[in-house]
Amino acid sequence: MAVLYVNPLRRGAVISRFLYGHFSEHLGRCIYNGFFVGEESTIPNEKGIRQDIVQALRRIRIPVLRWPGGCFADEYHWKDGIGPRETRKRMVNTHWGGVVEDNSFGTHEFMELCRQLGCEPYVNGNLGSGTVQEMSEWVEYMTFGGVSPMADLRRVNGREEPWRLKYFGVGNENWGCGGNMRPEYYADLYRRYATYVRSYGENKVFKIACGPNADDYEWTEKVMQSAGRFMDGLTLHYYTVPGESWEAKGSALDFSREEYYATLKKALRMEELVENHLRIMRRYDPEGRVGLIVDEWGNWYDVEPGTNPGFLFQQNTMRDALTAAVTLNIFNRHAGGVVMANLAQTVNVLQALVLTEGEDMVLTPTYHVFDLYKEHQDAALLESYVEAGEAGAGPWRVPALHQSASMDGEGRIHITVANLSAEEAQEIRLRVPGREKAEASLRLLAGEMGSYNSFSSPCAVCPREEALERDAQSLRFRLPPCSVAAVELR
Ligand code: AHR
Repeated sequence: MAVLYVNPLRRGAVISRFLYGHFSEHLGRCIYNGFFVGEESTIPNEKGIRQDIVQALRRIRIPVLRWPGGCFADEYHWKDGIGPRETRKRMVNTHWGGVVEDNSFGTHEFMELCRQLGCEPYVNGNLGSGTVQEMSEWVEYMTFGGVSPMADLRRVNGREEPWRLKYFGVGNENWGCGGNMRPEYYADLYRRYATYVRSYGENKVFKIACGPNADDYEWTEKVMQSAGRFMDGLTLHYYTVPGESWEAKGSALDFSREEYYATLKKALRMEELVENHLRIMRRYDPEGRVGLIVDEWGNWYDVEPGTNPGFLFQQNTMRDALTAAVTLNIFNRHAGGVVMANLAQTVNVLQALVLTEGEDMVLTPTYHVFDLYKEHQDAALLESYVEAGEAGAGPWRVPALHQSASMDGEGRIHITVANLSAEEAQEIRLRVPGREKAEASLRLLAGEMGSYNSFSSPCAVCPREEALERDAQSLRFRLPPCSVAAVELR
């Protein structure tokens, strides 16, 4: 029997709801034929935006959406995506599949999408191939309420009031697709570009600098040293790739037990990355003013056979649910230091929440994890600890159980716990001193490691309610192999 302790008297930082954020790029079928189907579509839409997706994301309380990339951001010229749609420039999306980008989804459409979702927009600017003036004018266009060339242009395009825009990224992966820069060079460019990202009136922009890839600690060191005082957030990108190389990442659906545990083990590395980067950041920012923003994370496999290799379309199984669960637990446990995170990418790309095909839509196991975890948003982290063994195959050993806990503003306690073992169930005794008599409920997501939802079987993996048992000191429940649970104590 495993024991899970939660201490309601030891509260930590608030788990920002922005740790539950998402990312959408002009890539494959994320925006076009994903979020955006156009007003003429027979698929129910409002202003071209697909309503079944909007409703699904509202249910999990999506807090923030990042756009327009990714690598696409550093070749996106925002003026191509405003004004009458028929006159917008058509270009080639060189990064992603070489398809025509007709710019029919631009700034106004993105802001409308965020309005419908009820979430904050996070716009990523172009430092790699755009000018300082272009970046500066984009911020002026979106956020200035007075009389100015860009504010007037916005009005000509039908939007009188400025939008509220807090989160603005100054470049993306500038160590790679965003210009192949050295950290010293990027830091200097960041200082220059960020100077002209203005906060107009009440709209205080939270400036986000391009941070490292995975364990590139030198990048963090150099960028923080030279540009730390000019930024509010620094990004980290970390993708879990189960295979040995980017050329052989492994299949999303057809994988062995060993690959399952390799994926979990590599996903768990997020903890070490977050801690090491935060440690470096704090050397240059001892007050902890600059937050770490993991604005791209998730599992990255080979594309589904027969699909465009540049579209990064992959299926999503219980393996993805488990990696999402442990990653979100890690973010919760580092609340305060990590201030935002964005899973890549919401619809039809990489570890998506939502897959579509024509008018059909399916919610993935990863979506259901965000549903189980949503009560942690803006709750206070609680100290928690689990006593259990290990699971694994070959060299890949992982903890059998992985957990986090929080208390919300009404005093309810939320505990999320994942059973990483693909073979063994875990009997759990939950001890929460002082809450022995609390009313308790449990929602469970369980399946085989390769179970997934398809258009013909959309609820092969869906959460269900389960009963808990109780004795004088604890609650007891059973976690089947490969499962994720959310327990609520009222
Ligand atoms: O999410 C796909 C790509 O991964 C993004 O465009 C880029 O930033 C990262 O390399």
